[in-house]
Amino acid sequence: MPKKITKKIVKKTIKKQSVKKPIKKTIKKVSTKKQKGYFNLRGMKDILPRAGSTFLDVFHASESVAKFYGFSYVESPIMEQANLFIRSIGKGTDVVDKEMYVFEDKDKTKVCLRPEATASLVRMYINNGLQTVSQPVKMWYWGSMFRHDRPQKGRYRQFHQFGCESFGVDSPVVDAELIVVAYNVLKDLAINSIVKINSIGSLEDRENYLVELVGYFRSKRSYLSEESKKKINKNPLRILDSKHEQDKEVIAEAPQILDWLSESSKKSFIKVLEYLDEANIPYVLTPTLVRGLDYYTDTVFEFFEDEENLQEKKQNKEENNSKEEKTSIALGGGGRYNKLVSELGGLETPAAGFALGVERIVNIIEKTKARELRNEEESKDKINVVFLAQLGEQASKKALALVEKLRENNFELYHNLAKTSLKAQLEIANKIRVKHTLILGQKEVQDGTIIVRDMDSGIQEIIDQNKVINHLKKILK
Ligand code: HAM
Repeated sequence: MPKKITKKIVKKTIKKQSVKKPIKKTIKKVSTKKQKGYFNLRGMKDILPRAGSTFLDVFHASESVAKFYGFSYVESPIMEQANLFIRSIGKGTDVVDKEMYVFEDKDKTKVCLRPEATASLVRMYINNGLQTVSQPVKMWYWGSMFRHDRPQKGRYRQFHQFGCESFGVDSPVVDAELIVVAYNVLKDLAINSIVKINSIGSLEDRENYLVELVGYFRSKRSYLSEESKKKINKNPLRILDSKHEQDKEVIAEAPQILDWLSESSKKSFIKVLEYLDEANIPYVLTPTLVRGLDYYTDTVFEFFEDEENLQEKKQNKEENNSKEEKTSIALGGGGRYNKLVSELGGLETPAAGFALGVERIVNIIEKTKARELRNEEESKDKINVVFLAQLGEQASKKALALVEKLRENNFELYHNLAKTSLKAQLEIANKIRVKHTLILGQKEVQDGTIIVRDMDSGIQEIIDQNKVINHLKKILK
């Protein structure tokens, strides 16, 4: 039987509705608040704690290898005159045509965020009289680069590069040494890499080759992808590294630059390969490798993760049914650029260099075996490390001073002043597998002592606070 609508029911309904109203309002408020938050710009990543420590590992490996091979650290500004890059990298390249962050400064200068650092280092070399000092001038750098590319895995709008540039010597051994440096940085980070290498000859070699290449592509125009068709007149070399399946057959039949090299370019390239053989660097001759920047002459190269690793990854991807990019991406690239210094106003000076993409390396270390190996290392007992646990306000005050004393004495120390229970702190100490924990409680503060606990046996010793440093030095020997 349906209820009879009485005054009472109507009143109740009204009451319910009036209670609901403010709730609706609150929900609205929350969602407006969310929209007002700040987010990082597309393609500009935060480097979070875990990746941050890997990022520093990459920095230290780069620093150590670069120093060993005699490169000096330099820094150039993040912002430069836009024309420096337009002139060096060249109109018609993706970087200049699509990806540069160009804007007008307050004084109307056309500036840009650097998309790479080679042009900056050439400018630095010319501006600071480095041509007049003893050659070669070998410099390494590390820093943020900016390219307004379509963000995806391994491709960001702000990213870091580690790079080395060597000025003043035109010898195949310089090219080989640069490749060895990059290879060894990756190797030190437990990344097996392989170098794809080619020679694009001198400017004259390339001019002759381009006539042939453009003729060939024009004759095959109808078979090419729309993107490649547009490049025939604008930047025909770039068709050679097109990723379009449709272009593959045409590219495979295309004339190869190696057949157009002058005798001297050919000789020098063979020497580079011989040096790499000597140094046991795995490489693949890749006649279609042309690089995306215009300033190169002769040797060009790119680094990739080695096939075995990739094979393993591809299998994993298939297992995971992942939609991640199937093709591998370059970990770094470089080459010789013998005309760039004079092009930018300096004396004719041979030069060569490379840059590695730091985020791509960090991603690999985080995700692959290299990372697992490092984790294994990390999970071993930390013998030379101590954990400091404290109980109560007095103890945490005292602990702060002790932390400083331990730091001064070069101890590696973990502590968590935010945790107050001994159990929680010992759990952390166990998790990070330290061998010894120092325990500072209320009683110890009063007595001027500290407990030293052996984490394996659980045996605890009470030590005078003034003697704890020496005691630790003895037991941690
Ligand atoms: P590049 O090939 O344009 O060369 O960049 C070098 C490396 O930087 C790439 O192989 C890649 O690992 C990384 N990279 C480039 N773009 C991005 C991006 N959008 N997101 C993440 N990583 C990226 C140069 O920049 C030349 N200056 C190298 C050089 C030095 N040549 C001679 N000396």
